[in-house]
Amino acid sequence: MIIAVDGPAASGKGTLAAGLARHYQLPHLDTGLLYRAVGWALRDEPDGPDFEAKAIAAAQRLDAAHLGNLEALTSANTGILASRVAVIGEVRVAMRQYQREFARQPGGAVLDGRDIGTVICPDADAKLFIVADSKVRMERRARQLELRGLPVDRYALYHQIEERDARDMANPHGGFYKADDAHLLDTTLLDIEASLRAAIAIVDGTM
Ligand code: C5P
Repeated sequence: MIIAVDGPAASGKGTLAAGLARHYQLPHLDTGLLYRAVGWALRDEPDGPDFEAKAIAAAQRLDAAHLGNLEALTSANTGILASRVAVIGEVRVAMRQYQREFARQPGGAVLDGRDIGTVICPDADAKLFIVADSKVRMERRARQLELRGLPVDRYALYHQIEERDARDMANPHGGFYKADDAHLLDTTLLDIEASLRAAIAIVDGTM
């Protein structure tokens, strides 16, 4: 069973995908971490002629060992870097292979990201597209950071989310849209438990 969970930044798709993976006892891949790891590798690289080639090389070298540094990878700045490398076609191609191999595990998997239901696993058994109002998404991300004891500038965070949305939406390679056969789940007014219940009901209904 392959479950594809897509949606914009801080929509709650990662938390939902993790909950679905626990519920159905499947392995889970947060594909944003792959792009974040490549972005992080380029953190000291100025935006110039070498940026693209270095991003492609970093994507081709990527393996699971690079995904461990969660503290750095989940920061807001790394999210911005990730969205910059994610517009490079060859970076996406290198990532595609890793993601498809993960999805091919016996028994299946849950993958969350932006193009899982459209490009990575178009034949997934269940597809969800998670959305939420951008101010609500900002507030959720702010609370996550606060829980980790990190300082939060809500104004800056809101703009980072908007910047990422804009770049992701214009991504010429991603096609970050809802697959025709994906189920739309708006979590603006739902807490984590209610969102997970709704997602499980959708997945059960498609099996
Ligand atoms: O999901 P997360 O916010 O961690 O993703 C970080 C960035 O990586 C996104 O803003 C997007 O640009 C990129 N990404 C992508 N395709 C995916 C997952 C993430 O392009 N499947």
